[in-house]
Amino acid sequence: MKIMFISLGCDKNLVDSEVMLGLLRDRGYTLTSDENEAEAIIINTCSFIHDAREESVETILEMAKLKATGACRLLIVSGCLAEKYKEEILEEIPEVDAVVGTTAYDRICQVIEEAGQGKRPRAFESIDRLPEGHVRRVITTGGYFSYLKIAEGCDKHCTYCIIPKLRGAYRSVPMEDILKDAEELAAAGVKELNIVAQETTMWGKDIYGEKRFPMLLKKLCRIEGIEWIRILYCYPEEITDELIRVMAEEPKICHYLDLPIQHASDAILKRMGRRTSRKELETIIGKLRAAMPDIALRTTLITGFPGETREDHEETLAFIDAVRFDRLGVFTYSPEEGTPAEKMDDQIPDRLKEARRDELMSLQQAISEENSRNMVGKTIRVLVEGKIPEDRVYVGRTYRDAPDVDGYIFLKAEEELMSGDMVYAKVTGSDAYDLTGEVLYEFTQ
Ligand code: F3S
Repeated sequence: MKIMFISLGCDKNLVDSEVMLGLLRDRGYTLTSDENEAEAIIINTCSFIHDAREESVETILEMAKLKATGACRLLIVSGCLAEKYKEEILEEIPEVDAVVGTTAYDRICQVIEEAGQGKRPRAFESIDRLPEGHVRRVITTGGYFSYLKIAEGCDKHCTYCIIPKLRGAYRSVPMEDILKDAEELAAAGVKELNIVAQETTMWGKDIYGEKRFPMLLKKLCRIEGIEWIRILYCYPEEITDELIRVMAEEPKICHYLDLPIQHASDAILKRMGRRTSRKELETIIGKLRAAMPDIALRTTLITGFPGETREDHEETLAFIDAVRFDRLGVFTYSPEEGTPAEKMDDQIPDRLKEARRDELMSLQQAISEENSRNMVGKTIRVLVEGKIPEDRVYVGRTYRDAPDVDGYIFLKAEEELMSGDMVYAKVTGSDAYDLTGEVLYEFTQ
């Protein structure tokens, strides 16, 4: 049977998709990216906010049409939307043959077999289960970077967030399983590991009784073939001096941190159930920059949280203007069913949420332009990811750019480069998001 897979949502979900693909490959199924020849289509969905749900439902409906016009015989919905709306999906979309929850994706082969027998299976497990067994996953990210998921679920319970209901309590993946995964990725040619979890810095607390993320990082740094290790999704309050020291000392760890702060007004941070104040955020960022002056910091913000006043918003603007993050994403608040924030008074109208988001984005545009301009003239290491033949330039990323969410560097090179090469380049130009540069052969072996 030929199977096509569609992975929606975040990079954590993508890792689950890659594990499912690994299980299907090992069972002898053929994987295809052609929807017209696929006999089974699996959609691993997202349910984080309204727009993500809409995209998931539209994709399911789109693929459902192929049951009438294409080769598709089985349509399977897994992931976060299936976890929350299994009954509704089965009831309202008769073309769906099976639903699989977020903690039961290791049952995917059994699900396909049962669905093939017309059973319409529902595969769900306790929300706090960690799927067992190790599988060599199918890398879908193009070969030179990959995501390494070190934990599942979240215990933070921010008042706007539905994730603990979709993904359960925080469960660290045991050290030996993470190292095996990372070694297999390195053996397959991966050079950049992007460490993900709902929250990476808590790793180890639940299974070892203490946070052991710095120890894990050191072990990952010893894996041959891995050149860059990038840490994503850090809760600011969990960043310890030890973690900062290891980041500063280990050459393979990118001086890059994704530090979602969500807001900068203490009143809103409190209503959001966040555990840091503006002052504490400033202290943590100060420590990171003191230890690593070249660190690139990314954050995300939410505008229009219930009760957000003009003053609260001004505080965030002032904070962003002062801290000058290198990368910034802004979401408008989306009230999620079953979360405390959904029931809070003083919900903000959509047009105000959007206007505040636009204000933050235009402030950041100027900051990003300035930060990028400051890179001009510097020498920087680049992971080459491809070539634009018509422009005769190569495309790559620096330690300052996480895959998919940040920018690129466009390189001129006198000699042919291969995807996956790591070269040094001199930065010659910039705009808000991207850089241009020239390869420096004297540094590049
Ligand atoms: Fe979406 Fe589930 Fe990730 S809700 S953002 S796919 S954890």
